[in-house]
Amino acid sequence: FRLPTLLFRPRFHSTMTALIEEAKRAAAKVAVEKHYPQDARWVGIGSGTTIVYVVEAIKALGVDTSATKYVPTGYQSKQLIIGAGLTAVEFDSIPPGTIFDVAFDGADEVDEDLNCIKGGGACLFQEKIVAMQAKEFVCVADHRKLQPRLLTGWKTIPIEVAPIAAHRVLLKLKDLGSVNPFIRVSASEKEGPLKTDQGFFIVDAPFPPLLIKSDVAAGKDVHGKDGVWAVEELARKINEIAGVLEVGIFHGQTGPQATAAGGVGGQRPV
Ligand code: 5RP
Repeated sequence: FRLPTLLFRPRFHSTMTALIEEAKRAAAKVAVEKHYPQDARWVGIGSGTTIVYVVEAIKALGVDTSATKYVPTGYQSKQLIIGAGLTAVEFDSIPPGTIFDVAFDGADEVDEDLNCIKGGGACLFQEKIVAMQAKEFVCVADHRKLQPRLLTGWKTIPIEVAPIAAHRVLLKLKDLGSVNPFIRVSASEKEGPLKTDQGFFIVDAPFPPLLIKSDVAAGKDVHGKDGVWAVEELARKINEIAGVLEVGIFHGQTGPQATAAGGVGGQRPV
């Protein structure tokens, strides 16, 4: 049985990869065509692999971008903007009170209420401040990311924490019902904990799937019995822990207007 597996796996793998990239590109194209204002002056640009296709789609619109400032959410994002020939302005250099016309970003998971888990790429803090500065936050997620509840497929909540407080935060997360939260290590584990663009650590905290509005309306307890929390309550509890810079749960506070599209053989905007 081994030989066919060895022979066929590479081709299967590359076909799957191509289909996933196609889904990301399709989602990005729909999101940009629907939500990019022709006269945009300030645009937030998120992080990850899907956002690459967002920038590609912005360029493909053919609109005049010479007066538009693009605000990155980290190092990769800034390089992406500059590489596309667009103008990058870092968040700490924007004029006070500037509101972005729109901010685009990817997500690790999106639920039925359009709440998101973000931070798979460790950029969640800058992603959140950029999202909260925008009139409209467009979260671009292909079909793989849509789930009825957060933490169905993606099992942990990324949380950015001050290194000095990381072990304290782990204990507090356990008190909230997280089983075995851990500090994310860098790709080459020898370098130890992964450092964010702020020089902070990422803690990944497993929790059971998070309750959505319909669960709450049906009377389910939102307060963490057996570690089961509603989205907003858990986001608030985690952000209250001293040592936490930001949590990778994006919910109503950012006014997300998520756009999810993609899939093999067609687009499925929601
Ligand atoms: C980075 C993020 C990314 O947006 C998220 O991880 C999705 O990435 P990708 O588009 O590569 O699937 O939150 O912190």
